[in-house]
Amino acid sequence: MTKPKQPYEYFTALPDDWGGSIADDGRIHSVREYPQRPPWKGFLMSVYSALTCVLIALLPQDVAKTAIQDELLLTAQTHFGVVDRVEPHELNQPLVTLGHKLFWDARISANKQVACVSCHSAAAGGADAVPQSIDAKGQPTKRNSQTVFNAMLQPSLRWTGDRNSGAHQAEKSLTGSMGFAKAEDVNNVLQEHGYGPLFQTAFPADPNPIRPGNYATAVEAYEATLRTPAPFDKFLLGEVRSLSKRQQKGLQLFIEIGCANCHSGKLLGGDGFERFGIHREYWTETQSRQQDVGLFETTKNEVDKFRFRVAMLRNIEKTAPYFHDGSVATLSEAVRIMANLQLDRQLSPTEIEAIVDFLSSLTGEIPANYSAPAFPDMEFSEMSKPKSEWKIEQ
Ligand code: HEC
Ligand code: HEC
Repeated sequence: MTKPKQPYEYFTALPDDWGGSIADDGRIHSVREYPQRPPWKGFLMSVYSALTCVLIALLPQDVAKTAIQDELLLTAQTHFGVVDRVEPHELNQPLVTLGHKLFWDARISANKQVACVSCHSAAAGGADAVPQSIDAKGQPTKRNSQTVFNAMLQPSLRWTGDRNSGAHQAEKSLTGSMGFAKAEDVNNVLQEHGYGPLFQTAFPADPNPIRPGNYATAVEAYEATLRTPAPFDKFLLGEVRSLSKRQQKGLQLFIEIGCANCHSGKLLGGDGFERFGIHREYWTETQSRQQDVGLFETTKNEVDKFRFRVAMLRNIEKTAPYFHDGSVATLSEAVRIMANLQLDRQLSPTEIEAIVDFLSSLTGEIPANYSAPAFPDMEFSEMSKPKSEWKIEQ
């Protein structure tokens, strides 16, 4: 059996002049004496450490703050995406200028008083400020009007995603909101109001360009230019200061508590379907008068009951009232209800305010081409009047 190593045996590597001596019991008996440190050196050292403390207090905090911001930016970049600016060359296409006129011309409807813009106004962020809008037959729409801004970036349209493109939506509108008995009835109205040459220019290869399909294509081309980049996009592109501290707090909460699990991508929603009311029935919170079964209505599939498209949140600050039935008047109430229904979480008023503040960073400028254009054979535009003066039958 080998003898356990004595402590001093570890010191064999010590230089000869290390200054100490080791006794037989392995204990160190004396070490070389060092000269006393002069007092001024001690003073200098304490000044030095005081200065370092001050620097640590200032600098690392700043560094730490930037690190937190960078982390938030990186996390945000994994959840969300940027809405591109509209380039000038996109606007000057014959198809787009034609679509612009069609979208704004109230004469192109069954009662000659309802345009697309009637229910998608700039003041309401491209949506309508009432729970239900009145269509060209004088009937209220079934659900709340959604914004047309950025809408073309979604894979399907409307609260239940039952339209697969802007053109599909626009063509269906002819017999829906615009009140025509048949989609083809729009042809004569377009001829009558001098749209012939514009359709010819926009569809040069088509011998018979005035027809519902082309009407729809032009409207869709115009809608595709209605994009609204916002301060949040600048943030995502690295300009962290585009969001105030409270907005950043709101963004962090939005991600942490799980809003971003549904509301993600470029539009913070718009691309999936979820049950509205996961933890409790939605109408208990929204006080809705009617229960809307959502997707179930067409699929008759039990899992689709109360399922709706996850609403996009771009310009959400401007598009009150909220939810598919416009049952909730304010954004703070909508946020409170969402947290309660979808995440079973009761947010404090401060948390709600921070999220609402963050959501306001999704408000972009009204697109430059979202104003009344000149119409063919019409000098004066009805739409240039304030909405209160429009002759919409109630
Ligand atoms: C009478 C009011 C009214 C008129 C007029 C109207 N809309 Fe709408 N719009 C609505 C309502 C309400 C919805 C939501 C419908 C739904 O989901 O059930 C909607 C939805 C949409 C959407 C889907 C947005 C999204 O995020 O999915 C688009 C795009 C749209 N409308 C474009 C148009 C165009 C183009 C016209 C003209 C051809 C038009 N609207 C005319 C009321 C109107
Ligand atoms: C499980 C998925 C899910 C989660 C989680 C979720 N939402 Fe929603 N959100 C939806 C759906 C679906 C709708 C559409 C509801 C309807 O039919 O009106 C919606 C609608 C909204 C609306 C109204 C949109 C409009 O145009 O009227 C707001 C605002 C909103 N959500 C914010 C939030 C916030 C904030 C959170 C986190 C507290 C959150 N959501 C969490 C799925 C979700």
